[in-house]
Amino acid sequence: MIDPTQTQSWQALTELAADRGDQRTVALFDRDPERATRYRLEAAGITLDYSKQRIDDDIRTQLAGLVAECGVEQARDAMFAGDHVNTSEDRAAWHVALRAPEAAPMYDEVHEIRHAMADFAQEVRAGQWRGFAGDAITDVVNIGIGGSDLGPRLICESLYTGDGPRPHFVANVDPHDLDDTLARLDPKTTLVIVTSKSFGTAETLANARVARQWLIDGGAGEGDVAKHFVAVSSNREKVSAFGIERMFGFWDWVGGRYSLWSAVGLSIELALGPDVFEALLGGAHAMDTHFREAPVEDNLPIWLALAGIWNNNFLDLTSHCVVPYAQRMANLASFLQQLEMESNGKSVTRDGQPTTVATVPTIWGSVGTNAQHAYFQMLHQGDLTVDLDFVLPLSDADQAGDEREVERVANCLAQAEALMCGRDSQALAEELKAEGLSGDALSHRLAARQFAGNRPSNMLVMDRLDAHHLGALIAAYEHKVFVQGIIWNVNSFDQWGVELGKTMAGKLVEDLNTAGTPSAHDASTAALLSRVRQRWQR
Ligand code: F6P
Repeated sequence: MIDPTQTQSWQALTELAADRGDQRTVALFDRDPERATRYRLEAAGITLDYSKQRIDDDIRTQLAGLVAECGVEQARDAMFAGDHVNTSEDRAAWHVALRAPEAAPMYDEVHEIRHAMADFAQEVRAGQWRGFAGDAITDVVNIGIGGSDLGPRLICESLYTGDGPRPHFVANVDPHDLDDTLARLDPKTTLVIVTSKSFGTAETLANARVARQWLIDGGAGEGDVAKHFVAVSSNREKVSAFGIERMFGFWDWVGGRYSLWSAVGLSIELALGPDVFEALLGGAHAMDTHFREAPVEDNLPIWLALAGIWNNNFLDLTSHCVVPYAQRMANLASFLQQLEMESNGKSVTRDGQPTTVATVPTIWGSVGTNAQHAYFQMLHQGDLTVDLDFVLPLSDADQAGDEREVERVANCLAQAEALMCGRDSQALAEELKAEGLSGDALSHRLAARQFAGNRPSNMLVMDRLDAHHLGALIAAYEHKVFVQGIIWNVNSFDQWGVELGKTMAGKLVEDLNTAGTPSAHDASTAALLSRVRQRWQR
């Protein structure tokens, strides 16, 4: 395995960063009139404009060198071939097989399950699948968390049109999540999907038990549960033990955060229909093909990854903000938080040594234009430089001249422009003088209204917000994460870091449920435990 710091490219990039790390991007545009097109890539209907990054041609050459020296292309081919690239769990990470077209001889079972999902979805959508009182299904509740929630939630929120049962997503063990959702629904017309790869996730099982009781309390007999409950899992024994008959399966080689393309997407298929699900897979497959075949210099996911590496590892920008300018994509940052931080939030290499470089930055963000009125002040003038991904889906309404759509698009472009260009202080001084300011008042106002600019960002433009483009966008981010994981030399497909807290929560559940002597805890936790027990009079 390759230590990135030992590559010639990493060393060259370190020198380039010291030399040119703070060079102004606007000056790069002055030097190169073709920059806007030379730093733009197209794939599967997505445009990536990375011209606002502080990357020049020399830096670009060395970043491409890093791909070669770190063996990214060989690793990519191994992932596509189904090799066991998830080394710590000795498994493949073969989510790309889930969206390979029927003709590809990847895996027969994948297609079998896909057909079973489509048949079931057709039956429910056509009103042939009936609830215990003989009614058609109007609402689908997906109970699941993490990868068993975030992807399908993002897709359904982005694309649901009202043509099909209404999708609802419950993840949180906080009773308000499930209770508030069920309060709006009728058990006679509700289908619950319990989605859990392991079928051992405490939050999901607790919510599933309550939902089952809600169904019974709503008039269903024990024998009716099968009409309202299905499971999506890779653990048939646990599903049966829970008492759910119908299960849509998937495999251990599908990581939770990469699973929306599997049976985990059943809620998508039910709410949006099999054609939309196919289009989603088709968009992702188009991006897979591009990632697999395009040369490094034209490869969109690779440059999404490399821009991040330059910012994080060489410019020390450790906070990365994602802002989709689309209300329906409001949960994109939540989805990417799991995808990027659960995948690459590691400090141990694939061969068990401490990592030699910084790995994933903090990923955060929310929807534009709302974000502009919350934290963009800090992005423009704060002392922490944050790099951004703007995501801009276009629509026919933009063309039709809907005033709000034009505002939406204009604001997105304007923010990226303002972050890069900043403000010319000379021109500002003239403006303020013309307003009658002078002396201390002028210099204070001048200081407060400075915009240094040179804040890097990517712009990802989607031709439209539909299944194809959303599939392509998500696949591009999955591959970004993969490329970064290879360069940082971490295993992007395990998540051991979530285990310890789960075990401790198990102990604390016991401690909270009994009045006896609690198990051993650190002094802070013990004091907090006693504070809760006091409140609960236990
Ligand atoms: O706790 C983290 C995690 O294991 C994620 O990786 C996963 O997506 C989520 O929990 C849900 O797991 P499951 O699908 O097994 O319920």
